[in-house]
Amino acid sequence: MALFKSSTRTIPTSADVPRHIAIIMDGNGRWAKKRMLPRVAGHQRGVETVREMVKACRQMGVEYLTLFAFSSENWRRPDDEVSFLMQLFVKMLEREVSSLHKNNVRLKIIGELERFDEQLRKHIADAEQLTAANDGLTLTIAANYGGRWDIMHAMQSLWKARPEMGGNFTEEDLEPFLSMHYAPEPDLFIRTGGEQRISNFLLWQLAYTELYFTETLWPAFDRAALELAIQSYQKRERRFGRTSEQLVESKPDA
Ligand code: IPE
Ligand code: IPE
Ligand code: MG
Repeated sequence: MALFKSSTRTIPTSADVPRHIAIIMDGNGRWAKKRMLPRVAGHQRGVETVREMVKACRQMGVEYLTLFAFSSENWRRPDDEVSFLMQLFVKMLEREVSSLHKNNVRLKIIGELERFDEQLRKHIADAEQLTAANDGLTLTIAANYGGRWDIMHAMQSLWKARPEMGGNFTEEDLEPFLSMHYAPEPDLFIRTGGEQRISNFLLWQLAYTELYFTETLWPAFDRAALELAIQSYQKRERRFGRTSEQLVESKPDA
């Protein structure tokens, strides 16, 4: 049995405050460039926005916050930017984990972690282990993550686990093998930085997520900007394939 209801098979209940928010944190480089700073200064400043978002989500009662930190395609960036981002990730894990733990945050890292060096993988494993039993906000960082990789990887794992089925699988069979199997599908997706694309983020999980795009660059995104995104979400009618009239007639989950 799957832990959460799939948006393509049932109608999930949606509350006023999104249960799960997924964000593409984009625009760090442009934020820095506008200030005549090196691109990496934007990444550094972006960490402060992460802190602010974690706090705001905890206070608002959001249960899951998922942040896209590094895509499988970001390895194509100049070597020095890639290595700066890796170091920043290690530093973030070193510095922030104890305060996340104090605040009852459960930390999860998703993506193809084999590509990271030994030290970083150890930090990740330790941080996940330390916070595993926390039942406040679940903060997921997607690192070396790609939506297509996620689906392919899940499919391969499922084949290995159930060879006798000969590939005769349902969505429900696949879902436990996806990297976000522990969370409901995102209710609200936010992309900062003005681009209106998914950039290979959670392709499977965004099937019925409400999408919100803002010009605001990630280092300038703040609590007020998050509240605007949530207000926009609250005005949407989530139909999951049905008509408006049906939604009035029936309760969610029917
Ligand atoms: C997002 O900001 C952070 C990462 C992809 C790691 P960018 O670095 O993409 O910033 P822009 O889009 O170039 O401004
Ligand atoms: C998406 O941002 C990935 C992350 C924020 C980690 P990019 O800046 O890499 O996306 P594209 O290249 O503009 O699509
Ligand atoms: Mg970008």
